[in-house]
Amino acid sequence: MKEVNIETKLEVYDDIIELPADVQKLLASAVEARDNAYSPYSKFNVGAALLLENDEVIIGSNQENASYPSGLCAERTAIYYAGAKYPNTKILKMAISASSRNQITDKPIPPCGACRQSIAEYEIKQDQPIEIFFTGAKGKVVKSESLVNLLPLLFDNSVL
Ligand code: THU
Repeated sequence: MKEVNIETKLEVYDDIIELPADVQKLLASAVEARDNAYSPYSKFNVGAALLLENDEVIIGSNQENASYPSGLCAERTAIYYAGAKYPNTKILKMAISASSRNQITDKPIPPCGACRQSIAEYEIKQDQPIEIFFTGAKGKVVKSESLVNLLPLLFDNSVL
């Protein structure tokens, strides 16, 4: 038996103002998207904003459904929209903001496992890391320089 320890790296910012202006702007787009989420069931709003290499910003929010599993997270709504609209344009950054209507969301909310796997696909496709920033309704912002930091041991197409 051999024990394997996997290290990952994240940066934690106490306040959004510590981040560069373009990231603050992208987080503001994520907040705007978040506030338009369709979340009548969970009352949990998530917004994602992607900065593409052509300077376009693509947004997404969670879209829920009475048949719960038919809904989709904000991150996948955004990344699939980007893939559909600009299939050959690289995604440089993703900003995510989440806010519950039941309580104050004062800690950073990371993308769920399924979204991480989906983001991984695009990072591999474009052969360039996607910087990911996530936060709650207020408080700290976490930065990951690549999706890989959030999903060690990811499943990829090299095994297919
Ligand atoms: N949600 C997202 O949009 N992104 C995530 O990464 C986690 C969860 C949404 C899905 C659902 O509409 C609500 O948040 C509660 O799970």
